[in-house]
Amino acid sequence: MKKDDRINILVLGSGGREHAMTHALSKSGITGELHCAPGNPGIMELAVTHSADIRDGAAVLDLCAAHDIALVVIGPEAPLAAGVADILRQAGIRVFGPGRDGAMLESSKAFSKKFMRRHGIPTPDFDICATLDECRLAISKRTPPYVVKADGLAAGKGVFLSDDESDAIRACEDLIVHKKLGEAGSPLVIEDFAPGLELTVFAVTDGESYITLPPSRDHKRAHDGDRGPNTGGMGAYSPVSIPRSIMGIVEDAVLRPTLNGLRSEGIDYRGVIYMGLMITRDASGEDKISVIEYNVRFGDPETQAVLPLLDGDFASMLLSCAEGRIEPNVSADAQGAALCVVLASGGYPGEFRRGLPIAGLNRGRVESPEFPGSFVYHAGTAAGIDGEFVTAGGRVLTVVGLGDTFKEARDRAYTRISAISFEDMRYRSDIGWSEE
Ligand code: GLY
Repeated sequence: MKKDDRINILVLGSGGREHAMTHALSKSGITGELHCAPGNPGIMELAVTHSADIRDGAAVLDLCAAHDIALVVIGPEAPLAAGVADILRQAGIRVFGPGRDGAMLESSKAFSKKFMRRHGIPTPDFDICATLDECRLAISKRTPPYVVKADGLAAGKGVFLSDDESDAIRACEDLIVHKKLGEAGSPLVIEDFAPGLELTVFAVTDGESYITLPPSRDHKRAHDGDRGPNTGGMGAYSPVSIPRSIMGIVEDAVLRPTLNGLRSEGIDYRGVIYMGLMITRDASGEDKISVIEYNVRFGDPETQAVLPLLDGDFASMLLSCAEGRIEPNVSADAQGAALCVVLASGGYPGEFRRGLPIAGLNRGRVESPEFPGSFVYHAGTAAGIDGEFVTAGGRVLTVVGLGDTFKEARDRAYTRISAISFEDMRYRSDIGWSEE
């Protein structure tokens, strides 16, 4: 039942990111009932889960009506790109997440590159190509490594990087001619390669004002030492020790021009802007920032490392964004350090087995008293027999360690991991090492 003047909140999504968000929302003083669709077996500890097609605005609206939902928090990009936030807002429900127009910053790479060019936001130079001949020309103008990006949403499979010109042209042919990613594969963005250090910065915004959260860094490669194939992310840490001046550059050169640009184009953006950035130090020693990508949702797994560092009421912050009156009631000045490690199925990001029993999950609870300062978030798990859990995806769990220092955070995460096991479990052992 709804308590006092608390509000019922619905989270959309099913991954480790949504588990971390649900965990943060569960600690809020304004949260009444917590619901999640579709959720996952770990989220069931914290929220009532519902099976629903979360890209179907009418189905989400029915859930809101049935459970007196006052705030919907949209986790992944697909419902945002499908315009679910617009349908909910038209019905008077407060939503954290942009409408379909704002979501184009992620759902169309061509839109987002042209948006940056229009508004003078630094990003690698690019061409937009609708035919194979245009792709050949764009590639011939550049030097390796060649970067080819599919326009639409491709679940992490839309970026091709190659040192070889004919491989790059073949990637274009697969997308444009053979439609390997369907409609998402056309047009293509062919852009200059930007070397440097990657950085993720989240800014929550009501469309006018914003709060930046502690910067984080994702480890995308499957194996230690940043080797092996690209994945959805094998771990992340936060904060990243960068000079304070860098955050100033991010706000002045990227964030404020982005918000001004959105407003000038009539886009009312209420949610989070994920800035995927590259920091490049030029010959004079000056740091330059360029935007590699925008996302219109929190990152996974960066969220699992960033949210534990926030001090304040997460639900109030999201509600105030949704209502267009952001309140700086969350301190984002990171105290301490957090890192998260993804426990993956053997074979991921290629083929992997499902249905393997997982030991050591403490009945699926996020927190375990015997492992202070650590959290376990579910992603690819399913309920097995007798209240146990089995693997059901490539990225199975994210284990977070939180501490006063990176060493403490790392010890806590890896100590928690040592108590968890499933057949062929894989994880990186070097998350956050560069910060010590
Ligand atoms: N960690 C990358 C992403 O969320 O897109």
